[in-house]
Amino acid sequence: MTGVGCIIRETGSFCGDAAQPGEGDWQEMEDVAKWEERYRTGDTPWDTGSPSSELVRVVGEEHIEPCRAIELGCGTGTNAVWLAQQGFEVTGVDLSSLAVDRARSRAAAAGMGVRFLTADLLRPPVLGGPFSFFFDRGCYHVLRRTDVNGYLRTLEDATQPDAKGLILAGNAREPHDPGPPVVTEEEMRSELGRLFDIIWLREFRFDQVEGVGIRFLGWSCFVQR
Ligand SMILES: C[S@@+](CC[C@H](N)C(=O)[O-])C[C@H]1O[C@@H](n2cnc3c(N)ncnc32)[C@H](O)[C@@H]1O
Repeated sequence: MTGVGCIIRETGSFCGDAAQPGEGDWQEMEDVAKWEERYRTGDTPWDTGSPSSELVRVVGEEHIEPCRAIELGCGTGTNAVWLAQQGFEVTGVDLSSLAVDRARSRAAAAGMGVRFLTADLLRPPVLGGPFSFFFDRGCYHVLRRTDVNGYLRTLEDATQPDAKGLILAGNAREPHDPGPPVVTEEEMRSELGRLFDIIWLREFRFDQVEGVGIRFLGWSCFVQR
């Protein structure tokens, strides 16, 4: 835990030593409420119920062998459970306790042991690393707007020095509203390049639930520390 005022939750309720929430706590409470509401109302166009086809492709193409892996912003656990089914030892972390409850149910239904934590990745508990592989679909492009260095610090603490990772983010060449937050190639290279070698960065299209009618353009970024 990170100390005074931490609001890491295993149960969905806030905890901490501070009598009054600080500025960061209010921001986190707003974010939690926003994501919980999206999962409660089904405003989750990324949540297809199937693993990300880009993740499946890259794990195969890059011959990523089963290892200790973490999914940042794991949502309802489709990708984490798929990785576990491939033999990875997986931890999934998400801010939304509703998403994490669904992820736990998904893992149980699949008969897979996956460790899920409800936590803010900008103020994480001990995540149980070091991890050799990480996956992030849609978390970096959100968190970079608040604190990209905090996001990178979390990854630095959680991963081993030669770890590889796959980050999927919205692409500023085709912004949509509503749609994923977007980032330019230059931003990705300069932000992620602070911690990682960028092995490749390419365009792809996000999977989308039926009925949304558009597959948003994204960046697929494969990195190594
Ligand atoms: C676009 S969704 C993607 C979910 C999942 N990666 C997937 O592809 O199905 C982004 C996720 O990031 C989570 N998230 C947002 N801010 C977070 C934070 N500060 N710490 C941890 N998770 C966060 C949200 O709750 C949400 O589940």
